[in-house]
Amino acid sequence: MAEQPPPGIDTSVATAARMYDYYLGGKDNFAVDRDAAERVLSAAPEVRPIALENRRFLQRGVRYLAEQGVTQFLDIGTGLPTQGNVHQIAQAHDPAARVVYVDNDPIVLVHARALLSSNSATKVVTADLRDPDAVLGSASELLDLSRPFALLMAAVLHFVPDSDRPHELVAGYREVLPSGGHLLVSHVTGDTRPQSSAGAAAAYRNTRNPATLRTVEQIAGFFGDFDLAEPGLVPVPRWRPDSPVPSDAEDIWMYGAVGRKP
Ligand SMILES: C[S@@+](CC[C@H](N)C(=O)[O-])C[C@H]1O[C@@H](n2cnc3c(N)ncnc32)[C@H](O)[C@@H]1O
Repeated sequence: MAEQPPPGIDTSVATAARMYDYYLGGKDNFAVDRDAAERVLSAAPEVRPIALENRRFLQRGVRYLAEQGVTQFLDIGTGLPTQGNVHQIAQAHDPAARVVYVDNDPIVLVHARALLSSNSATKVVTADLRDPDAVLGSASELLDLSRPFALLMAAVLHFVPDSDRPHELVAGYREVLPSGGHLLVSHVTGDTRPQSSAGAAAAYRNTRNPATLRTVEQIAGFFGDFDLAEPGLVPVPRWRPDSPVPSDAEDIWMYGAVGRKP
């Protein structure tokens, strides 16, 4: 495990990026993150399979989008690099695919830059999704935002509290997307397994990224009038599975969908 933090990285408070890295078996986390993650896991042991299933959903979603001809991706709330990152999947389909990664945790930049140093079709930026001008300004340095692109918001919007008006923020991003552009979202819900999901959310309270559970209806609201690809908004293991769906798919209180702007 990485115990010597890179310069400028605060290891006094757990962060969602590093806790997620821990759930996925990564090494870019610190004692404070592992302690917080263990508190989450003791409230809700299914959080680890949820993280894994969310990652698989994102990968299937990117493959689906690449097959639809998408060659530009704006991935907001990227997380730490792991296996099967967005650019690897997109560029396996089309080597010219371009990806901009955005995260507000500076540790993502440190690790992603090292991974991407030789890849001129990708860019990684430290910015906050609540500052769309900064996000889109940086993205436009690599992507042509006047042409359709895919906006990826996997497992990030639950870190935006209601007081920051996440639905208005996402509506603003939908507006910027040209017709034919796509939005991928995954998000935790308290509609299923309310007790353990609430326990997990409570355990995030003392981290840098408190989490907000939302109803499936509220999650659907992020898509506005976009046309959802089959099968719609579902627990992530049920979204276009490419292997048998686990029997405990209903325990996965992370919902996801991909929508297309009419
Ligand atoms: C659970 S990880 C998800 C990683 C990846 N999208 C995935 O689904 O595998 C959530 C990420 O969102 C980032 N994040 C949280 N709030 C954010 C914000 N306001 N702006 C940008 N990134 C944010 C965190 O730093 C973290 O890396």
